[in-house]
Order: sequence, then C-alpha cells, then structure tokens
Amino acid sequence: MTALSLRGIEKSFSGNAILKGVSLDAGPGEFIALVGPSGCGKSTLLRILAGLESADAGEIMLGDRDLSSVPAADRNIAMVFQSYALYPHLTAAQNIAVPLVMRRLTGAQRLPLVGPLMPGQRKAITEIKRDVREMAVSLKIDHLLDRKPGQMSGGQRQRVALGRAMVRRPAVFLMDEPLSNLDANLRVHARGEIVELHRRAGVPTLYVTHDQAEALSMADRVAVMIGGSLLQLASPQVIYDDPAHVEVARFIGQPRINLFQSVVGADGRITLGDVSLGLSRETVSAGAPVTIGIRPEFVRVHRSGQQGLPARIERLEFLGSEIIAYCRLDAIGEPVVAKLSPAEGAGLAAAMPVRLDFDADRLFVFAEDGHRLRPELMGAAAPLETAHG
Ligand SMILES: Nc1ncnc2c1ncn2[C@@H]1O[C@H](COP(=O)(O)OP(=O)(O)O)[C@@H](O)[C@H]1O
Ligand SMILES: [Mg+2]
Repeated sequence: MTALSLRGIEKSFSGNAILKGVSLDAGPGEFIALVGPSGCGKSTLLRILAGLESADAGEIMLGDRDLSSVPAADRNIAMVFQSYALYPHLTAAQNIAVPLVMRRLTGAQRLPLVGPLMPGQRKAITEIKRDVREMAVSLKIDHLLDRKPGQMSGGQRQRVALGRAMVRRPAVFLMDEPLSNLDANLRVHARGEIVELHRRAGVPTLYVTHDQAEALSMADRVAVMIGGSLLQLASPQVIYDDPAHVEVARFIGQPRINLFQSVVGADGRITLGDVSLGLSRETVSAGAPVTIGIRPEFVRVHRSGQQGLPARIERLEFLGSEIIAYCRLDAIGEPVVAKLSPAEGAGLAAAMPVRLDFDADRLFVFAEDGHRLRPELMGAAAPLETAHG
C-alpha cells in the first residue's frame, strides 16, 4: 500500500536542472532516508513536498489526494529543519503550541484581550495545553516547558523542534538533516530516539541526511540521490550489498569501496589480479570500458605466497575492532583499501610488501554509464571463475 507517492518531480533554478524526474513511493508508517552528497537536491525535494517550493513538473499524492496544488498550510505535512527555527522569545511550551494555536483558534480567539471573551476559546486553550504536555512527556522534555530556546542545550532544542512538528499529528513527516547540529555522541543517541518516535507516530517519514551511516542505521529503505536523480531505493542491506549504480557503491560504505577502471578483453572477459569474470556479449562488447568495485572487507592481504597482486602498505589505521590498511598496487599504482580484523592485520606494518587478492563473488562490475552489470547478465557458460596458479 502506498501512502505517499512522488511521480516525476522536476525542478530547475535559473536553467539548472536540480531535480531530474524523481519518483518515490512510501508505505504507511515507512521510514525512508533520502541520502546524497551536499547539493544533490535533497532539501529542494523536501521543500516541494512540504509545499514551500513548487515543482516544474510531476505529481505528489498523499493517499488518493493530489497535493500538487494544495497550499503548504493545508497539506498536513510537518517538517523539521536542521536549524530548529524555534521562536527565541517563546518558551518551549509556547513553541510546541504554535501549530495547534494556528489550527484550533480563530484569529479573534488569538487576540490577547478580546480572545478570552470569545466562545470556546478557554476550552480550546485547555486542550492545547494538555496536548503540548503529552507531547513533552513523550519526548522527555516536560521539565523544560517554561524555558526559552536560549536556556536549552542543542539536543533539548532539537527535541522541542521535533515536538512542535509532531504535536499536530501530521500525515507525513519530513526531516531535513535534523541531527547535524548535534555533537557526535548525541547524534548517535538521537538516531534511536527519532526511530522510536517515528514508530509511535506511524506516519510515512522522509528523512534527509548526507550521512550514509545515519541513513543505513535508521531507515526501512534508503533512497540514494546523486545529482538530482534517484539512483536506487532499497533496504539498507540491498543498497550496501547490491548497489545498482557505481555512484551508489561509491557513496555508501565507510571506508569507501575500491574502484578500478578496466576494459573488457577480446575474449569478453574482465580480469582483476587472479580473478576473471565472464560477461555476456549482449551486455558489453570487447574493448568496452567498465568499472570494477570491491568493498574493503573483501580485500585479503597476504604477507607471503604467490596469490594476488603485488602491492605495498602505505599506512595502517588501528580502529580497535578493525584495522584499515591503505595499500598501493605495484603494477598500476592504484590505491586499494582493505578492512581487516585485528587477527588478519597482526604483523602488518607500513612500507611492507604484500599481495592483495579479492573475493571473486564480491566483485561488482559497472558499465560505462554507471549501471551495474548484473550477475544474470554475465555469461552463462563461464559466469565467474577464479583462475589460480
Ligand atoms: N532557491 C534557490 N535558487 C537557486 N538555486 C537553488 C535554490 N535552492 C537550491 N538551489 C540550488 O539547488 C541545488 C540543490 O540544493 P539543495 O536541494 O539545497 O541540496 P541538498 O539539500 O541536497 O544539499 C544547489 O546547487 C543549490 O544551490
Ligand atoms: Mg539540504
């Protein structure tokens, strides 16, 4: 079931195409992380969804309601920004109450002197106070309700901003890098809290971040956007293990995936060290440029033997539970990063000559246009061979 649906959203600013036909469906209660490098159009897409910006083309559906021409205030979509945008002169309670006051009180009811004389005003205010308190209790900020933003920490302000967005029970939740102003420890803690809040609210959520670890750890599905195009929308595991495009593979994963430029041989095969892959001739022809990718955890570092490509360790990074070895291949001078367990890394040192070899079934091959050449597209007779010795 689709709760929120974007179809072919396009947007240009002064002739520059920023969004190039973005389509995306979110299920009810689904948490989607929209991730991509800075400037790829994430905020623009969110602003279009919220109605703060208009799209040049495309359609936004909330359930069976077309939102394209509905003004921002009537969309029932809540948005939390990176800068919390709290009113500095209002207390936390008053900040959280703003959306309720705007919806539940008429203009006259809001007037300081006349308001209390209007029928229903007192009851509405009592209900607003009750809802604000409930929201504050669920966010564990009820003790801060009388403070102004200047008297709160970054984390507390961020929760007030979340409270203000959630208090009116929106149909969709949009968050634009809401954690990027918090320090690293707080940020990891806040990830869990936002996921938990989302679970309780149960509404489709689009969460924008440029931090791939945040996206992978929080979301039901991750949408990877590069240069205004959605390159893949899938579960975190599929995004990582089965990237559809070279730019997805490059953006997701820390340390970054190793990528090598190569060319399909006259025999229709691609070789990397001891590994030789057969590709179907319908997919790529001899001489076609391809990119081969291998994640650092699937690079093996040998101190002796004849297996693999000769290389040299340039630098080792000890991270406690793992060791990152920055190496360089002797023959082509390409850097290769290997992620090793402490046991695998024991005895390695900078400047040491080593041999690198790769898990054949973990290699990705990408065509020149960046799209993944899928295993089923590889030659049936010789799908994948490791030619040792
Ligand atoms: N109102 C605007 N006028 C002109 N250019 C804009 C405007 N808003 C965004 N842009 C440009 O659109 C591109 C994408 O911006 P944005 O959506 O903020 O990216 P992101 O949130 O992914 O970092 C950037 O190059 C930015 O400069
Ligand atoms: Mg942005």
